[in-house]
Amino acid sequence: MSTNSIDSLLHETRRFPPTPEFAANAVAGAELYESAKADPVGFWADQARELLHWHKPFTSVLDWSDAPFAKWFADGELNVTYNCLDRHVLAGNGERIAIHWEGEPGDSRSISYAELTEQVKRAANVMAGLGIGQGDRVAVYMPVIPEAVVAMLAIARLGAVHSVVFGGFSSESLRSRIDDASAKLVVTADGGWRKGKVFPLKAAVDGALANGTSTVKNVLVVRRGENEVQWTEGRDLWWHDELAAADAEHEAQAFEAENPLFILYTSGTTGKPKGILHSSGGYLTQVASTHKNVFDLHPETDVYWCTADVGWITGHSYVVYGPLANGATQLMYEGTPDTPHSGRWWELIEKYKVSIFYTAPTAIRSFMKLGRQIPQSFDLSSLRLLGSVGEPINPEAWIWYRDAIGGGSTPIVDTWWQTETGAIMISALPGITALKPGSAQVPIPGIKIDILGEDGTRVDPPNGGLLVVSEPWPAMLRGIWGDPDRYRETYWSRFSGPDSEGKETWKYFAGDGAHVDSDGDIVLLGRVDDVMNISGHRLSTQEIESALVSHPMVAEAAVVGAADEATGQAVVAFVILRADQEAAQTVEEASTLLRAHVAQQIGAIARPRQVFVVAELPKTRSGKIMRRLLQDVAEGRELGDTTTLTDASVMTIISDRLK
Ligand code: PRX
Repeated sequence: MSTNSIDSLLHETRRFPPTPEFAANAVAGAELYESAKADPVGFWADQARELLHWHKPFTSVLDWSDAPFAKWFADGELNVTYNCLDRHVLAGNGERIAIHWEGEPGDSRSISYAELTEQVKRAANVMAGLGIGQGDRVAVYMPVIPEAVVAMLAIARLGAVHSVVFGGFSSESLRSRIDDASAKLVVTADGGWRKGKVFPLKAAVDGALANGTSTVKNVLVVRRGENEVQWTEGRDLWWHDELAAADAEHEAQAFEAENPLFILYTSGTTGKPKGILHSSGGYLTQVASTHKNVFDLHPETDVYWCTADVGWITGHSYVVYGPLANGATQLMYEGTPDTPHSGRWWELIEKYKVSIFYTAPTAIRSFMKLGRQIPQSFDLSSLRLLGSVGEPINPEAWIWYRDAIGGGSTPIVDTWWQTETGAIMISALPGITALKPGSAQVPIPGIKIDILGEDGTRVDPPNGGLLVVSEPWPAMLRGIWGDPDRYRETYWSRFSGPDSEGKETWKYFAGDGAHVDSDGDIVLLGRVDDVMNISGHRLSTQEIESALVSHPMVAEAAVVGAADEATGQAVVAFVILRADQEAAQTVEEASTLLRAHVAQQIGAIARPRQVFVVAELPKTRSGKIMRRLLQDVAEGRELGDTTTLTDASVMTIISDRLK
């Protein structure tokens, strides 16, 4: 984030209290804060009992004896899918629409809770027939179509573990995730629609399994793109054939609250993405509770739309599990916001009378650039609440969002959380909090956040520091798949330890910088590690550097995240070519080739905005690349301190060349 926008965040004085009418009808009242403050663990137990159906009630709430490995509701048993589907049908809400789905080409389907339940039961029977049972891992590689939700819920119904891989990731990324989790089954589609074209998915799965050593036994393929696919007899099965032949009845079995629910890979500071592991009862409790209270959900009347892809944590928690656990009616849209025209999202809000809308600042900024006349030509009066997630939202974008999309009156909840936290951690509650543009504001009830200095002591407002979560929370990650040491090291080693009275304390280090203002509101300041945030998606600098050096042309590479008006940050790479390659390619050719190489290795979201061919990289005497200096260059700033470099002239040469 630029220094300018931090300044404007620090001096924000505008406040937007809820209207009396909104406050009077809000589902969450001030008593939530009071009861959570009096007894945070008891508060979560109440939420778990109130919001979920337990096949076997729990008596133990939090077991932190094996910290930092938490157990919530450990002796309770539930079925996550039963909670998202069957119980709504049994309660007489089977006719309620669960999903209004709109395909990019304009085809649409509205699916009731009863219909969705039947689909999931059939899919569960198909998967059970393929040998999938409790604890087995299943990879899901899909477009945003209802079958992605059906697949996830069928896997959860069996007590198996899904690993959803975003459909924009490459075959190579898919392969490493399938291998890391030893998945037995892959659910995919022939292809999906994006920007007016079908992108192939099945072909990428074929590529990922091509080495023949995979643990995958079967591939279930949904027909969506109608594109041609290669078929491996005995391994590949058409979803529609299998579901049609399957039994429509399936009884949900209860599993322990700590039964793993899913693995979701996300970028860390080192090269290899980490498989973040989430479990059942605590996760579902917190996603249901926050979905209800933060979005002020009235399930009988609201139409909710979260624009996230199911391949990201936002799609898991606030497209699949939160809304369905709460019996909400939601919209799902397959394609991009600008296809076939740049008013597509607003057209959908008008068509389905969407009342709650949750999206990312990067999208808002790109609409801002196009101008208000586009949203103004649609009827957006059904909207009554807006949400933001994924990166800090600057006050200008916040105000534009409220005025141009929210008609100048809707509350906006800016929600801070992470793949690891599983659910929203910091956010206003719209019927209670006076909203402040640019700030996520306050921890939700039951969550304890602190801002610490480098030395681990609490920093006083208005100083900035590092954000930690100071008490375990129900939706917290249960570990990194297959790597308990990395879990301890990454999140818990920095600030945990004995306090001044010698008592062992555990503090979760989130990797974000933050500051508390004089009102006590939390302002997020972005990542403090080598994780970049590109359009609200996480990528590590090292992951992209590894992709670059995997190309035979490249001798060395350094990657930085440079501030970018549209995407928040953009990937900028600096590479040294191998001596024998320098003559063979022009600098432009090399740069184009390497940008494409990264996209092919990781996925299009990782494609660098720029690749600069340089003769040397700035290094300290101990050989560490000074990324900070490269970032100065990439952002067009004056160079910072170069005195620790082995050769200070390197930076002058690089910056002169780039000018
Ligand atoms: O830096 C924070 C930023 O996104 C990171 C988490 O990324 P990911 O695990 O991909 O999850 C994104 C969706 C929950 C955080 O460490 N971030 C997320 N939401 C916000 C945010 N930064 C500021 N304000 C937010 N509301």
